[in-house]
Amino acid sequence: MVKIAPSVLSADFAALGEEIAKIEPVADLLHVDVMDGHFVPNLTIGPVVVEAIRKRTRLPLDVHLMIQHPDRFIGPFAKAGAAHLTVHPEVCPQLQRTIQQIREAGLRAGVALNPSTSLHAVEHVLDQVDLILLMSVNPGFGGQSFIPSVLKKIVEMRRWLDRLPAPPELEVDGGITLENCREVARAGATILVAGSAIFGEADPREAVAAMRQRLTCP
Ligand code: DX5
Ligand code: ZN
Repeated sequence: MVKIAPSVLSADFAALGEEIAKIEPVADLLHVDVMDGHFVPNLTIGPVVVEAIRKRTRLPLDVHLMIQHPDRFIGPFAKAGAAHLTVHPEVCPQLQRTIQQIREAGLRAGVALNPSTSLHAVEHVLDQVDLILLMSVNPGFGGQSFIPSVLKKIVEMRRWLDRLPAPPELEVDGGITLENCREVARAGATILVAGSAIFGEADPREAVAAMRQRLTCP
């Protein structure tokens, strides 16, 4: 079953606890976007907020680091209660070491690729990670449109992963909507991140339920 990970980036940050409570019963994971104003042109949150979120939900926290020097923050996010920690190889000169450090901290390790980054950037670590995240927008903001050419990358990555004895999850992040979720899942994604398509709706719980129905009906 494809998992749905609502992204808090599109939630009301002044009422984060209430927003999370709306989707808690129907979501599989909670996606948390961490941005530093360097790797991406936006600033969001850090370990303090992740720790506060942790206390308000039992959903596993899927923390997506869009920051330079992510290795400096593995300890703080582990302590804050992240379940998955995903880093971008575009800013990890020693990717294997970073992955190893995430796992040693007791977290599941993910690697995320920008739309313009080749799949080959992670080919050598596929058997060492728990999650591959393919960005389907350029990271930095919620509410952007899905970049159609990423579908081919998803299909190709699915092919690579299916050759492994224990394939990692294949997560797709950016521009996922009720309209395109099935196509993305069919291409081979196992986790769909959705921000504006869930928290931008009047009833976020209903939005998750509608997406799940779209994903499960034949
Ligand atoms: C973008 C973030 C995404 C974002 C997705 O940089 O990584 O997780 O929250 O938002 P939507 O679903 O609105 O594109
Ligand atoms: Zn994200």
